[in-house]
Amino acid sequence: MVKVAVLGHGTVGSGVYEVFDMNAERIARAVGEPVEVKYVLDLRDFSHLPYGHKFVSDFSVIENDPEVTVVAEVMGGVGAAYEFTKRCLLAGKSVCTSNKELVATRGEELLQIAKEKNVNYLFEASVGGGIPVIRPMLQCLAANEILEIRGILNGTTNYILSEMIHKGVSFEDALKQAQANGYAEKDPTADIEGHDACRKISILSDLAFGDKFDPNEVSCEGITKITLQDVEEAGKLGYVIKLIGRAVRCDDGTAYAYVAPHLIPKEHPLAAVEDVFNAIMIDGNATGDVMFYGKGAGKLATASAVVADMMDAMAHREKRRPVEWGDGSKHLLRPLGTLESKWYVRKDGQAAEITGPMTTDEAQTKFADAAAMMRVL
Ligand code: HSE
Repeated sequence: MVKVAVLGHGTVGSGVYEVFDMNAERIARAVGEPVEVKYVLDLRDFSHLPYGHKFVSDFSVIENDPEVTVVAEVMGGVGAAYEFTKRCLLAGKSVCTSNKELVATRGEELLQIAKEKNVNYLFEASVGGGIPVIRPMLQCLAANEILEIRGILNGTTNYILSEMIHKGVSFEDALKQAQANGYAEKDPTADIEGHDACRKISILSDLAFGDKFDPNEVSCEGITKITLQDVEEAGKLGYVIKLIGRAVRCDDGTAYAYVAPHLIPKEHPLAAVEDVFNAIMIDGNATGDVMFYGKGAGKLATASAVVADMMDAMAHREKRRPVEWGDGSKHLLRPLGTLESKWYVRKDGQAAEITGPMTTDEAQTKFADAAAMMRVL
């Protein structure tokens, strides 16, 4: 019997418990022995649940229990989640997480501790929810130099845009619905201002290019300035508007990385990605474009990726998975000023147009008076 613990019983945490319960037989077959969730850490009262007796509020109970070998950190944030993850790793327990904020900001340090302790720190669920993307990129695309990553990386904003565009739902109502569905972050500002997608493109860039891309330095714009007028103008020109996280490798090994709304040609595969779905296109120098698609947020989809990582950690108890990246000292992030794109430009009282290609610096100077301006993918 393998014993595990779950830190946090919010949307994803309760989903982790549910997946272990729902698929117990299948998981036991794959792992080679049954898996028991021995503890769930949460300060709130869940004594009414059938597994209410498993709840603990004192983290040290889990930390000091040598029977617990694998822990899911699904608390979110970088406070207690950071401290508990570090203490679990130092205690020789593998940690699996959906916490993109923690992975993006402290990942290299936590991976280093995992390496020293010969345990795993795995985070498939931190990008794309239930979509397998990190492991395929690290393993199946391992023979490639990654040239470019383009993705719809946030389910909440894609859901809001889809509801607004296709059903005429207001921004506020669509956001409320995304929160009710369990897609949004505790503070949905992280979704709508692009910070969540920014953390995800930073993690993918860390992995693709081998050194830390600090999400605080990666340029980030959300969806709050998108107007229905621009949605309509873009439609007339043959495009849809999507929030895109993008990383582009340059010949010298540096890379552009940013999050911003883009116009996408209607026939482009990313244009068809609606609702809570995410899609990530990875361009390898041997494979060309490979696309990953699925539910990018939500309880069971995200929990599925956390549990799969936990099973992987159980299978790699003796030999840890070698995942790591540098501390950012290579300064690979390139300023966006020289990145060339085509541009959508709308000036007050004039029809919108697509122009360029030209660099960001050139476009910002030339269209300083524009009412709206977006990159075209
Ligand atoms: N708030 C995130 C999203 C959750 O909407 O994509 C999944 O990371």
